[in-house]
This record gives sequence, structure tokens and C-alpha cells, in this order.
Amino acid sequence: MKNTKGPIGIFDSGLGGLTVFNNISKRLPDYDYLYLGDTARTPYGTRSFETIYRYTLQGVTALFDAGCSLVILACNTASAKALRTIQQRDLPASYPDRRVLGVIRPSVEIVGEISITGKVGLFGTSGTVKSNSYYLELKKLFPAITLYQEACPMWVPLVENNEVDTPAAEYFVRRHVEVLLTQDENIDTIMLACTHYPLLLPLIRKYVPEHISIIDQGPLVIDRLEDYLRRHPEIETRCHKGREQHFLTTGSVELFNAHAAAFFGKPLHAEHIELH
Ligand code: DGL
Repeated sequence: MKNTKGPIGIFDSGLGGLTVFNNISKRLPDYDYLYLGDTARTPYGTRSFETIYRYTLQGVTALFDAGCSLVILACNTASAKALRTIQQRDLPASYPDRRVLGVIRPSVEIVGEISITGKVGLFGTSGTVKSNSYYLELKKLFPAITLYQEACPMWVPLVENNEVDTPAAEYFVRRHVEVLLTQDENIDTIMLACTHYPLLLPLIRKYVPEHISIIDQGPLVIDRLEDYLRRHPEIETRCHKGREQHFLTTGSVELFNAHAAAFFGKPLHAEHIELH
């Protein structure tokens, strides 16, 4: 393994991670990338801790098997439910020279700099909200901040099925925005804690007053990744630079290709993979 170079792996439950990958590939275009979307089993957000952990580990293992030394979990639900166990148990036991990074910490780090009132809202999947991961991370860095969390279980299915411009999307966005904002009139910052949600941003913005900042994770994650690669030459030198990008889906290749352009800004051609 020591001298083998491979792509940087990016994992999500479905297509949402492409919003993060889009940012990564623009800022760091020289590396090879392998994106894996578990579209056959999305959404993860309503599943149990054990199931999300098992599915995520299967995805990460498949990316390791394909030669990745570094995998980014471009999914809040997987980062909330599986990252810690993978980092603390699975990597030391089975893959001591590989690394897995998540999206929660880089997102939390920025909140304290943006919020002036100290009242922060969050939209996430049920899994992310129930895990309380954002609350726990936020308390470590910014103990004075109050976090209001709103689970939006319909948003990921709407986005995965390319239904973001429909009355159904409008209804569910408006409903969750209202529920979140009625909790505290001083909320001045909202975190989109799901990599699918940037596709709903125009709708969310329609119902969120302009003085409230909305945080999209894509640019934050790329700042963190760039910094990580700088500080970890032992990992960086194992990431191959050939500008190759490949995409894997556990579901229908046709559907992935048809819907992916909305996330990535250009047509993609995925291959099928089975996870075990
Ligand atoms: N993109 C995933 C996230 O960031 C969606 C999770 C799901 O599949 O429910 O949480």
C-alpha cells in the first residue's frame, strides 16, 4: 500500500455529495476522484444508527478497495452516525494507513464567526438531528450559541427525485422554514446540514428573511480538505494527480446520469457497483 497512489474517494448516500464534490473538483482539479453514491439505499436520514454505520462502512471499504487512501464522507448523516466509529474502531483495526473525513466539524467551525445574535438554526435529516452531533460539536467550540434544529425528512427524497421546482417542494420548504423560525425571532444564521439541500436553496431563500445568513457547506469542506492535504503529506502523496473523475452508483445508472447534472453542473456517466 505504501507507494500506491489512488483517487480521493467521496461518499454520499446518493447524489447530494455531488454538491460538495463540485466545489472540491473546481478548487483542486488536479487530483483523481472516485465518487460513490449509494442511490439504491438513499435516503439514510430515516434509518437506524446501525444501518447507517453498516452502509457507510461498506461504501468506505469499496472506495479503499478501489485504491483510495483518503475518503470524504460528503454526507452529514453518515458523518453524524458512522464517522466516529469508523475513525476510532475500523481504521486502526483494518486500515491503519487510510483516512476518512466528515463534513460536520468544518461546518461548525464557521458558525461562531458568522452569528452575531448567537441564535443559530439548522436544517438536517432526521438522523443528523437525532444524533445531536451539531449541538455537541458546537458546544465544544462555541458554548454560548443556542442551536435550533429542524428535521426535514421530505427534502432529500424531493431532491433525489429532481422535484425541487414543484408545489410539493414549495410546501415542505415553507413548512419547515416556518417551524424553525418561529422558535426564536433572533435566529440570524441557518446551517444547511445536508449536502442535498443546496439544490433547494432558491426556495429556502424565498421564505427565509434576507438578514438571516444561510450557510452552504460546499466551500467550507473544501477549505478544510485543502488544509488537511497541506498538513498531511503522507496522505497527500498517496493521492494521484491525473485529473480523472469516476462515478459509482449502487442504483440505476440511467437515473444517476439523468439527475446528476443538476448537482454537478454537467452530465456525468456513472458505473454500477454492488456494496456488501
Ligand atoms: N446528503 C446526505 C446528508 O448530508 C443525505 C442523507 C440522507 O440520505 O438522508 O445528510
